[in-house]
Amino acid sequence: MSISTDEFRHVLSHFASGVTVVTTWDAEGRPTGLTVSAFTSVSLEPPLVLVCVDHKAQSYPALRASSRFAVNILAAEHRAVSERFATTNADKFAAVTYQPGPLGLPLLPEALAHLECRTVSAYPGGDHTIFVGEVESAQARQGNPLLYFRGSYSRLFPLRRRGAPRQAERRS
Ligand SMILES: Cc1cc2nc3c(=O)[nH]c(=O)nc-3n(C[C@H](O)[C@H](O)[C@H](O)COP(=O)(O)O)c2cc1C
Repeated sequence: MSISTDEFRHVLSHFASGVTVVTTWDAEGRPTGLTVSAFTSVSLEPPLVLVCVDHKAQSYPALRASSRFAVNILAAEHRAVSERFATTNADKFAAVTYQPGPLGLPLLPEALAHLECRTVSAYPGGDHTIFVGEVESAQARQGNPLLYFRGSYSRLFPLRRRGAPRQAERRS
C-alpha cells in the first residue's frame, strides 16, 4: 500500500515543530538561507544536529558546497521572517538584519537561539539531503518559540505543571 503525497503531507502536518532559518554563504560570498522545520538534535558527544534540505531549494547548492551552516531558531514574533525565508527568489536578506556569528556565518541576531555547525556528513534522503553538522558555537536567549502545526503558525501554550494550583486558586 502506498500513500499519496497529499496524504503524507497532511499526516505529517500533525507533528508540531519549531521553525528555523538555515543560513550559509554562497560561492559569491552572499548570505543565503531557507526556512527549515526538519531540524533535529542527533548526538550529545560529539554535539551533532541535522537539517533536511530539498534539492529544489535555491539555497541547496550553497549548503552542499559550503563546509558550514548555521541554524537560527525563530522566536514567536518571527512569523514574517519565516515567510520571507520560505519564498524562493525573494531578496531574503534585504529587509532582515544579519551579522557574522563567532564562526563567521550569517546569523539573524534576533533569533531565539543560534547554532553554527561544521558539516560532517551529507546523506541522501529521497528528494532531500540530510546535512549533519557538528555544533561549534551556540547561544540562546530568553523568549518564546515560533511553532508550526497543520500548516499554520502557532505559539506555546504551556500546560500547568502537575500539582500546581490553577490560576484562580493561586490568586485567592
Ligand atoms: C514552516 C516551514 C517549514 C519548512 N521546512 C522545510 C524543511 O525542513 N526543508 C526544506 O527543504 N524546506 C522547508 N520549507 C520550504 C522552504 O523554506 C522553501 O521551499 C523555500 O522557498 C526554499 O527557499 P530557497 O528556494 O530560496 O532556498 C519549509 C517552509 C515552511 C513555511
